[in-house]
Amino acid sequence: MTTPARHAHITGWGRYAPEQVLTNRDLERMVDTSDEWIVTRTGIRERRVAAAHETTASMAAVASLRAIRTAGIEPDEIDLILLATLTPDYWMPSTAALVKEAIGNTKAAAMDVAAACSGFVYAYATAQAYITSGLAKHVLVIGAELLTRFLDYTDRNTCILFGDGAGAVVLSASDEPGGGQGIELTTEPQGAYMIWLPAGGAKAPPSAETVARGEHYVRMEGKETYRFATRTLATTALAAIEKAGIEPSDIDLFIPHQANIRIIEAVAKGLDLSMGRMYVNLHKYGNTSAASVPIALAEAVNEGRVKVGDHIVIVAFGAGFTSGAVAIEWTADPARGLVGDAAVRPEDVSVRLPVDWDSVDPIPEALAELMRRPGLVDVPLDDVVPGEPESAREEVRA
Ligand code: ACO
Repeated sequence: MTTPARHAHITGWGRYAPEQVLTNRDLERMVDTSDEWIVTRTGIRERRVAAAHETTASMAAVASLRAIRTAGIEPDEIDLILLATLTPDYWMPSTAALVKEAIGNTKAAAMDVAAACSGFVYAYATAQAYITSGLAKHVLVIGAELLTRFLDYTDRNTCILFGDGAGAVVLSASDEPGGGQGIELTTEPQGAYMIWLPAGGAKAPPSAETVARGEHYVRMEGKETYRFATRTLATTALAAIEKAGIEPSDIDLFIPHQANIRIIEAVAKGLDLSMGRMYVNLHKYGNTSAASVPIALAEAVNEGRVKVGDHIVIVAFGAGFTSGAVAIEWTADPARGLVGDAAVRPEDVSVRLPVDWDSVDPIPEALAELMRRPGLVDVPLDDVVPGEPESAREEVRA
């Protein structure tokens, strides 16, 4: 007897966008820009901004619960949570861990995925691999971003582009054919510094100087990024479509990363398709990075743009440079999305708060004890030759 092939179907989808709207007119009052410039160069009219009490985890939790209600399963049936973000709440713990508790799940493994704006597609591909290998039955895949806290609102090149939000899907194992068919993921590190956040990591830990230089904000070479996007999106989508054994003309709806309308138009041209097959909602949200594809997917389905049996493609590009695409055969009842949306109110969802900071000693006790020992802190660091730590210590003891 042979084991039937397992397939990964989308059974749930949900999104969350904060209420506060930042329009192009608002930005006109902050930097030297105009509504007309932003609309013609990007297609963006407004974007959402998270409220002070909101975080990446809180937005992700609302979108996730909506996706879980849409799927008609209990939160505890999820056995893996993958959260794509470039704006995690903390370096550690993972934002996925916070979301796990907020949605009321007790058994899933949870981790974050870092691939910038392609992160959701990377996480989706990972979820599909877990399911088809039999390692997981229901995987929650989230894209969530709070980019407005990482933007320099004096830099008109970047601050006009990005917004906040979250989207999620539930992928479920099934022996019925359908779901994700072809996957293509690429990474081109030659573009590593075309979109980046210079400080805060191990290479340049945060300091008063890095903050003074604004190195904790997103930086971007717009033209290079634009060139990469227009070159790669169509080819990445095409590779996924070919792996699925179908043609671009078989695709009913493309759900591309919502970065710039001109980039989406270039994809349509590259694949010889009309813009009617491209889903676009960037005029409302701007670029929400890893959240952009799952927000667009949930909206497209809830607006009736996808029906059972349709072929769709999710495709994204982002910092790294990364890109990714998945060709999917849709199998779920589209009407379920409205059930999920109605079932979850943001005010009913909460994320664990940090412990009382006053009780946290910033210096680990072992290190504090070492520093209290006479002499050690006076070691002239220039004299500590790499590879010879012992002799330096001997000197101190002597
Ligand atoms: N308002 C008014 N003028 C502006 C603005 C603005 N907000 N921003 C730039 N300009 C000016 C420039 O200074 C330049 O002026 P100059 O000719 O006097 O030097 C002029 O407008 C043209 O600037 P370009 O950079 O050539 O404009 P372009 O048409 O390339 O559009 C844009 C810029 C929108 C950023 C485009 O390059 C783009 O979309 N790039 C891709 C960005 C992207 O998608 N990033 C997200 C990646 S995903 C991730 O992982 C985070």
